[in-house]
Amino acid sequence: MKLPFKLEVLLVCLAAAAGIGCDKRATAVAETEAPPAHIVPIPQSMEIAAGALRFSALRVDAAAAAPNAERALEEVLTTLNISTKDTAATPIQLQLVDDPALGEEGYRLVVGDAIQLSARTDAGLLYAVQSLRQLLPAHSQAEYNLAQVTINDVPAYRWRGISLDVARSFLSVDYLEKHIDRMAMFKLNRLHLHLTDDQGWRIEIKRYPKLTEIGGASAVKDGRAGYYTQEELKHLVAYAQARGVTIVPEIDMPGHVQAALASYNELACKDVSNLSVYSGVEVGFSVFCLEKPEVVYLFVRNVLEEVIAIFPSAEIHIGGDEIKHPLYADFVGRTAAMVDAMGRTPIVWEEGSVAEMKPNVLLQLWNDGYAIDAAVAKGHPLILSPCSYLYIDHGNYAGQPGADWCRGEGVPLKRVYEFNPAPFKTAVGIEAALWTEFVHTDASADDHLWPRLAAVSELAWSPAGQRSYAGFVQRMGALRPQLDALDIHYYAEPDLGWADAEPAH
Ligand code: ACM
Repeated sequence: MKLPFKLEVLLVCLAAAAGIGCDKRATAVAETEAPPAHIVPIPQSMEIAAGALRFSALRVDAAAAAPNAERALEEVLTTLNISTKDTAATPIQLQLVDDPALGEEGYRLVVGDAIQLSARTDAGLLYAVQSLRQLLPAHSQAEYNLAQVTINDVPAYRWRGISLDVARSFLSVDYLEKHIDRMAMFKLNRLHLHLTDDQGWRIEIKRYPKLTEIGGASAVKDGRAGYYTQEELKHLVAYAQARGVTIVPEIDMPGHVQAALASYNELACKDVSNLSVYSGVEVGFSVFCLEKPEVVYLFVRNVLEEVIAIFPSAEIHIGGDEIKHPLYADFVGRTAAMVDAMGRTPIVWEEGSVAEMKPNVLLQLWNDGYAIDAAVAKGHPLILSPCSYLYIDHGNYAGQPGADWCRGEGVPLKRVYEFNPAPFKTAVGIEAALWTEFVHTDASADDHLWPRLAAVSELAWSPAGQRSYAGFVQRMGALRPQLDALDIHYYAEPDLGWADAEPAH
């Protein structure tokens, strides 16, 4: 973008106010064309000057106690082969500043004669690094030519999530690590793991070893079985934390429990004859024997105690979807109270709104038209996952094989982008969901997740006034090499101009 000279000087001198030289920059502006500056999710405010900062090496000045941001920066610089050994090289500064306007996750990024990243927290600095990473090319070059920008950015929502169903079909620790890296690039911060369902139980519970011996060995037809040990999950939690991502575990109860019933038959009522593992896709048939509270609540408590010891997440998901039972509301109310007494905030799927619960319990909305007003009036905060916009197990286009029960035309990128969260006044954020009845390989997971997750990130991070699909298409289209560099087998979305070209992976 070519700017009028006066504006250039103004931007240059804004950089000067941030401690970066003004006079010298004016020369650089006159000499250099501005390189592109494409960022997803689009920042709250971004001023682009007409010049560029050229460098081949950087000198890192990280006085701040921000270990996660420093590690992320080091990873970017190593990947791009940018030397940090030369003390005379262009400075890149990470600093913690006490500016309340930045909140817990906001940041400021100024590229002038130097690169300055500032935030109140390590998390904020981590996001500054991610924005810088998108301004840089995806691959190593002899010399870098960076757009001169001043970015002030804070997220619209605190909850920017994706739920992965590892119960129907398992995803390996290796895949989840890659997925967390990819989430981090787009400033997504909640990874909800749907750890249990009819078709599989994926979390080691030491007091109930048969849950994984039996329940971990089954999967949906043609899906993958498996389970995570507690050690693996603790490793994943730490891996995610270092990248600004909180893992939110879900134990789905009191329905969707066939894998648990097949492992511990006493959790079922006496008249239940089918106690084998299940590989179908129908829902709503299995339920804990709620008429045996002494058996069921002991199990629930023991399981939740182990879950809570693994996952430091402030919120714990207890499921509560798709089951009709006279004691359902009682179960949800008691289990939510149990989680609360353990010092965590429960999350329940929308149906749980019928239960007596503290108003801080989060409800996750998943049917577009669900009558949630009464629950909102009680004060329950919402996580927004309306299926016709955010269930990305549905096709990228109408007719893509897989789930279509919520929306026959699929959930194309544009549809995701056009979800309007504004009417949901108590929403804490947005969460897409990848169910895996029909998603059985890493490549298929990638194809469903990307690039739609980038649209989710913009919905959850960027203010409504900054969002436009046309702008998103242009910026995300240009970021294709970044997805290639992360080895993502994304859907070659025609709207982004990707359909005709061969991906680099
Ligand atoms: C759901 O899709 N049953 C939450």
